[in-house]
Amino acid sequence: MTALFRLQRDADLSTRNTFGVAARAPWLLEVNDAGTLAEALDLTQLHELPVLMLGGGSNLLFAGDAPGVAVAIRAHEVAIVDERGDHATVRAQAGADWHRLVMWSLDQGLCGLENLALIPGSVGAAPIQNIGAYGVEVGERIVAVEAWDRTARQPVRLDRAACAFGYRDSAFKREPERWIVTAVELELARHAAPRLDYAGIGEELAAMGISAPSARDAAEAVIRIRRRKLPDPAVIGNAGSFFKNPIVPAAQAQALRDAHPRLPVFPGDSDHTRKLSAAWLIDACGWKGAREGDAGVSAAHALVLVNHGNASGLQLLDLARRIAASVRERFGVALEPEPRVIGADW
Ligand code: EPU
Repeated sequence: MTALFRLQRDADLSTRNTFGVAARAPWLLEVNDAGTLAEALDLTQLHELPVLMLGGGSNLLFAGDAPGVAVAIRAHEVAIVDERGDHATVRAQAGADWHRLVMWSLDQGLCGLENLALIPGSVGAAPIQNIGAYGVEVGERIVAVEAWDRTARQPVRLDRAACAFGYRDSAFKREPERWIVTAVELELARHAAPRLDYAGIGEELAAMGISAPSARDAAEAVIRIRRRKLPDPAVIGNAGSFFKNPIVPAAQAQALRDAHPRLPVFPGDSDHTRKLSAAWLIDACGWKGAREGDAGVSAAHALVLVNHGNASGLQLLDLARRIAASVRERFGVALEPEPRVIGADW
């Protein structure tokens, strides 16, 4: 019989964060099934402690140790739970690997996740951050998120509206102590034209010699671009984009664009705002490829901080703060980190 959970004291988290920095947790609780999580927290009398959810560890920077109990959900079942006409609902448990889910959905002949191929991390982490790439955000595909509500001490199923998705943001991210995501339900289509409008995808498909791309072709193009542009966390520690692309008033974006015609500007979250390319701003300040000790900025992409070996989380955070300060000084734009910083304030 499999145990309900596994509890470890003074656990090493260095292999559980993709930056690969040293960090520990007073407790590490691994539950097989999300349904037993509440029981496990009660049985171990850990439910009063702060909880830190560990997914794939691709969205965390440990500037210090985890404060209470680090929780990992192992359940990773993925299944089609409903089919209506051209659409299917897929339910994936939090412990499943995101990229494997994307490839599995394509194997089932389902479209909709192809632009999100190769994003590191677990299914349970995907809605928290509202992961996005190449013009698609996971929130657009989610019909509901199943979670454990620590405040009400009960399981809940939140529909898309209740998840309050925004750019790299959600209700779960705003109240991290309250929610433990246990499963995600996605609506995918049997036939749907892949979205190819994001810069680079069309060119990549053309280079692959494909003129009428399927969803799988789009995934292949995304995989090629990502492999070329983004360092692989299995090779060099990183957490993807370290900064969010800043959203600024439209007038400020226009003034910056007048002064710097090459600055990439994207639509914001309303008519009055625009999203700027943080990578461009950081690159313009000369940080790309910079290295201080083992903390550095990727030479392939200015938005990605890397751990060349033995950088500490604090060293990476210190570098990130100095990058943000120089962007603020030169362009008057504030940058915010995308990963959750543990053990320090931004
Ligand atoms: N650029 C530079 N220097 C660089 C890299 C990029 O100037 O070193 C400029 C280029 O002009 C480029 C523009 O920045 O055209 C945008 O670059 P890219 O297409 O790589 O996208 P991004 O805005 O840097 C965002 C997401 C990525 C996502 C890509 C593709 C955020 C914070 N990042 O990056 O997501 O994969 O778009 O959709 O929104 C992540 O969140 O971890 C992540 C990797």
